[in-house]
Amino acid sequence: FSLKEYNTFRIDVKAKCFLEVSSMEALQQALQLYRNDDIFILGGGSNILITQDINAVVLYINIKGISVISEDDDHVILKVNAGENWHEMVLWTLDQNYGGLENLSLIPGNTGTAPIQNIGAYGVELKDSFISCEALEIATLKLSTFDREACQFGYRDSYFKNEGKGRFVITSVCFKLTKRNHKKNVAYGAIESELRQRNIDNPSIKDISNAVIAIRKSKLPDPKELGNSGSFFKNPIINKQEFDKFTINWPEAPFYKVSQNQYKIPAGWLIEQCGFKGKQFGDAGVHKNQALVLVNYGNASGGEIIALANKIMTAVMERFKIRINPEVNIIK
Ligand code: EPU
Repeated sequence: FSLKEYNTFRIDVKAKCFLEVSSMEALQQALQLYRNDDIFILGGGSNILITQDINAVVLYINIKGISVISEDDDHVILKVNAGENWHEMVLWTLDQNYGGLENLSLIPGNTGTAPIQNIGAYGVELKDSFISCEALEIATLKLSTFDREACQFGYRDSYFKNEGKGRFVITSVCFKLTKRNHKKNVAYGAIESELRQRNIDNPSIKDISNAVIAIRKSKLPDPKELGNSGSFFKNPIINKQEFDKFTINWPEAPFYKVSQNQYKIPAGWLIEQCGFKGKQFGDAGVHKNQALVLVNYGNASGGEIIALANKIMTAVMERFKIRINPEVNIIK
């Protein structure tokens, strides 16, 4: 069974066995049947790079459904099942005038996998409106609830990428969204200038979403047209001492101050400075509008993408003495 249509990098690898599960009962049955085999949990496939055929039972989590758990005049708590497409879900919340997810518009992938890397964009992260998620432990078939603290969210990071890695299937996520007095996040430079261009002074949450969609469309390739997994690398975080040295040599470099002793440098800038932006090596390449995104021009293998990633990491290290690390989950 080819997984090409099930990973946004569009890598043509095969799965030994592929099962689509669309209900909790089906998931429990499948895990019971196959728990002694190797199991590979697949969601939207938008943050993985598969490097070889998968010699495991692939469970494609496609459990749908959105429900209102509780609400008052100000807030609503939504439970969204894992198989809901993230962006369609965000558009649905905006249609109800529920605020909180508008900056996270147009992110590929499904809702169930969004907590794993605490997806984020334009000044907002999933954790900001996250209440809890439910996850089924593969070994015990026990369903547990993880609150925000249990998820140990960090920058593109969570419990599910560390101690919890490979042990759980997230089956649903609960969000707390606003019904009025929306907290609007428009301080991010790209959003400010997009809204200014549109002559919008007092944006609605839908305006913010539309601005984000326009920015993303102009910078990030559409996985339907060009295989990719969004940012391939995390933006590196360096300490004050490293940062002071860095800015002497590169005073023009963009940066964000994360805390007193932590500075985040955009990996896209570092990669562009090394001359990789828009470059193609066989069918693997670096996107022309955003150097942080590696792309598959057609038939690149996972190995070719990794070879390019390694070349980039080495070049950035040599030039800037900064290590950049992949944020994409590499499946070996
Ligand atoms: N930059 C360059 N060259 C490039 C790309 C970026 O010089 O090729 C510079 C830009 O000029 C800007 C800075 O780097 O000064 C930041 O660029 P941008 O606002 O595009 O954001 P980013 O740091 O490159 C991060 C996220 C994106 C998210 C954007 C917007 C990570 C790893 N990536 O990218 O997330 O959409 O901010 O918030 O944190 C993703 O995770 O898949 C993703 C796309």
